[in-house]
Order: sequence, then C-alpha cells, then structure tokens
Amino acid sequence: MLKARFSCKIMEKADMLQKLNIDYIRENLRTHSLGQSLYYFEKLGSTSDKLSELAKGGAAEGTAILAETQTSGRGRSGNAWYSPPGLGIYLSVLFRPELPSIKLSGITLAWGLSCARAIGQCLPAQVMVKWPNDLYLNGRKIGGLLAEHLAEGGPGQFLILGIGINVNNELIPLELCDTASSIYLETGRGIYREDLIVKLLENLESDYRKFCASGLDELRAELEPRFYLTKRWVSVEVSKDEVIRGVATGFDRQGALLVLDGQGQTVRCQSGTVTEIEP
Ligand code: BTN
Repeated sequence: MLKARFSCKIMEKADMLQKLNIDYIRENLRTHSLGQSLYYFEKLGSTSDKLSELAKGGAAEGTAILAETQTSGRGRSGNAWYSPPGLGIYLSVLFRPELPSIKLSGITLAWGLSCARAIGQCLPAQVMVKWPNDLYLNGRKIGGLLAEHLAEGGPGQFLILGIGINVNNELIPLELCDTASSIYLETGRGIYREDLIVKLLENLESDYRKFCASGLDELRAELEPRFYLTKRWVSVEVSKDEVIRGVATGFDRQGALLVLDGQGQTVRCQSGTVTEIEP
C-alpha cells in the first residue's frame, strides 16, 4: 500500500550524510527540460548566483544547479540560508517564460505547490505553502523558495528559482529552532535526497506548464487546502510605513494574499512579510 503511493525509499540511518548521487538523478528524471542540464558542485557560494551567471551566458530553460553545501546561501529579505552539507537540498532552476511580467505574479505559489506535492510523494506528509513562498510542515518552516526575476519583461527575461529544503537535518541552529525544522524532525523519517530532487523537478515542470497556460486557475483546487494562512490572524508588513492586520482569507488570481481587515475590507497584499498574530 505504502509502496504504491510513495515511490521514494525510506532512508537507512547509515546512509544519512552521503553525498548526492547525481547519476541516479539523471537516470531517473522524467522531464523534457527541467534538470536535463544539471550541474553539481560540492561547495558553492549560492546556487542561484552561479545559475544567474550561466543564464546571462545563454543557458537553456530548465538548467539546474545543485550544491552539497553553500557558503553564502541567500534567503528572502537578505537573510542567510543555512546550508550544511549532506542534509538539505540547495537547488536552483532557470526558467525563460514567454509571458509578460504582469502575468508572472503568483508563479511562486505554483512552485510552492510543486514542492509541497513532491515531498508528499516521498512520504506521508501534508506540506503547506505559506504565502508568499515558504514550505511548512506541522506549523514549522522546513523550506523556502527564492524567486529572482531578471531582465524583467524583455525578450531575454529569465527567472531563477532557488529552493532550500531542510531534509535529513537532526539539528536546527538555536537561533532558528523556534520556527524552523526539517522533514526528518517532523516525520521521524529520513529520505534519499535524490528521490526528492527527481520529484521536485518533475512537479515543477508540470505545474509550470499549467501556470503558463492558465495562471493559478488550474492549480487553485489543489493549492487552496494547502494554503497555510487561510483563517489565520496575520500582520503583513507591506512596506516600512504600511502594515495590514486581519484574517487571511486566501489568495487571488494574481497570487496576492487576501486579508480581511478590522474595517471589514478585503485588502490585497502583493508582497510583504507575514507574521501570525493573536486575534
Ligand atoms: C527563504 O528565505 O525562505 C528562501 C530560501 C531559499 C534558499 C535557496 S537554497 C538554493 C538557492 N540558493 C540560494 O542562495 N538561495 C536559494
């Protein structure tokens, strides 16, 4: 029964901390373009910085970079991304969408869904997407997405999607442990990172195709039950001078967070930093 639903192997303890087996990923990957050109580095500053260099040099859509560890991994809002070797996934993927930039808003929600679903294909875990681009399991952050849009709107525009997932970490640094966790800590199971990487690339490719055809419409039914903030009280720092407080009610077709404020108005937040608050 489990075998039928979850095609990833559960990891033997002795296999934790093994380096990534890139040949296994290449042999098992069933995609048209995502990851077909796959680079692996034992150590990099940031996979997204390296991929940005390759993109400027003309790399094809779908080019992907994996690193075993990053020395300057970047998260949102200028935060560092903790990237210890052997435990997590640090992956960047290049997209060259032909859509105008206005139609690209919401794409990180589509990618968040791909990542959440991919993890759920490896082991029984209902990963949630916390707007705008965090992956949550049991109320804790186990991963995040960093989407960077370069040469916006022009013919050479490209997007770099950086994905960081805490997979087999048994420990989380003290300064992060209030909010962050790992798949292993939340489920008690380690997984082979190679299997998850294959699932990530396959899911990203199929959802990207759907997003390019119809935005979030086709993905909405699957995304809604995974939308972590629905019915939660939030404070959204939209800018230094603007903070919206209220109850999150969902997301719109452009991927904006909808918040019902104290005046009974629904406010659209297109970007911002969200904190959960007491009612
Ligand atoms: C976040 O702040 O939640 C987003 C974290 C994104 C981290 C990933 S790891 C791979 C890629 N390279 C980076 O330097 N950052 C992203």
